[in-house]
Amino acid sequence: MAEPLKVGLAGLGTVGASVVELLERGREQLVARCGRPIEVVAISARSRGKKRDFDTRKFRWAVDPFELAQDPDIDAFVEVIGGAGDPAKSAVEAALASGKPVVTANKALLAHHGQKLAALAEKHAVALNFEASVAGGIPIVKTLREGLSGASFARLYGILNGTCNYILSRMEQDRLAFDDCLREAQRLGYAEADPTFDVEGHDTAQKLSLLASLAFGAKVDPNATYVEGISSITLADLDAAEELGYRVKLLGVAVRTEAGIEQRVHPTMVPKDSAIAQVMGVTNAITLDATGLAPITLVGPGAGGAATASAVVADLADIARGIRTPPFGRPSAQMTSTRKAPMQHHEGGYYIRLLARDRPGTAAAIARRLAQQKISMESIVQRHAKGSPSALRSGSSGESVPVIIITYATSEDAVRKALAAVRRDRVVSGKPQVIRIEKN
Ligand SMILES: NC(=O)c1ccc[n+]([C@@H]2O[C@H](COP(=O)([O-])OP(=O)(O)OC[C@H]3O[C@@H](n4cnc5c(N)ncnc54)[C@H](OP(=O)(O)O)[C@@H]3O)[C@@H](O)[C@H]2O)c1
Repeated sequence: MAEPLKVGLAGLGTVGASVVELLERGREQLVARCGRPIEVVAISARSRGKKRDFDTRKFRWAVDPFELAQDPDIDAFVEVIGGAGDPAKSAVEAALASGKPVVTANKALLAHHGQKLAALAEKHAVALNFEASVAGGIPIVKTLREGLSGASFARLYGILNGTCNYILSRMEQDRLAFDDCLREAQRLGYAEADPTFDVEGHDTAQKLSLLASLAFGAKVDPNATYVEGISSITLADLDAAEELGYRVKLLGVAVRTEAGIEQRVHPTMVPKDSAIAQVMGVTNAITLDATGLAPITLVGPGAGGAATASAVVADLADIARGIRTPPFGRPSAQMTSTRKAPMQHHEGGYYIRLLARDRPGTAAAIARRLAQQKISMESIVQRHAKGSPSALRSGSSGESVPVIIITYATSEDAVRKALAAVRRDRVVSGKPQVIRIEKN
């Protein structure tokens, strides 16, 4: 039999332990597919004495991931430690610089240093594979980089964070408030003790920056994305979405526009009959729009040891077969510094929920401010206390009543200016809720 691919594995947590398990369980299948075995020969983690789900004594222990990365007895280095800094960064750099192919699941590392690491991998003619870093078990990196290398992408959008999708699904299905669903997600291990990175959209933004680079050839830039999270979403928004034929999802969206590549993460109303709207719970999904091709939606597990290990092992299988593709699908020198399309230029439909004062002149004042910004309304309804909608009228109770407006396509700039003027008019109380609408 051909020589095995000897692997050094740094990180033995959820993903690392599952990689060991999958390589053992899938050994024969991998030999059949790659023509050679893939064997972990050396491992490294923070604490040697920690109890693990597999027998660590079968493998050589490396005290330091940095040293493991340069070990002459390994053919490939797997980094599943995590974090944008060291030791993950220096270990990956050391492996590439010593001519070893690298597999990583680390979206933070790639979002911040992907451009330089890709150039380093090319310089030393080795692979840098990162399938597991976006949407866990969904082979989206390979799909964009190889499966659709003939395609010209117009847009991609996806549910890239299982925690947020779980929370929004539970809110909608069980009529629970955001905070209750977040606590439940934490109890089930879907959300971190500090959930900010997930629920405020930053995790999605890092993943989106990698997908946008793969699809559009733009240099990886985690700061190119407009980010809004889901913590302001209420049951009132989900109820309104339901009545209007939409569902609310936290989407990462990258679109080619005349102003450049628009990258944005925000709660989004998607048509209830769209493929992405059907995706509930912790599941991830990505829809790809390419010119001349009907939309393609990939759906699957976005996290968890087994799903993520599946992606890591697939990347190792490519290395065992001798396959090497530029990390972002084209030579890094050809990746462009595309202009970041400013969010103010974004064009689309909007859902706006206002708490309007029920007194004469309110409806006219709101309509006037929208008209001044040339915003056309598809619908405007006022909700009574018990929740049933009716056409907007100016009443006289003086109380605040929720008013829901759906606009035709307009610009972000126009919406922001109109709402600032409405607030100055003092015909609404509180901050207006704005949710962008993404059509199929
Ligand atoms: N978990 C998922 O579902 C998932 C999905 C997609 C991508 N990922 C990515 O995969 C990577 C690993 O995630 P994970 O969930 O497996 O993390 P984890 O369970 O926290 O495991 C991290 C591992 O790294 C080791 N480690 C941490 N700091 C270290 C240091 N300074 N030196 C040496 N080893 C160190 C830890 O050692 P000890 O065990 O000794 O503490 C542990 O074995 C991350 O980049 C993550 O974003 C995870």
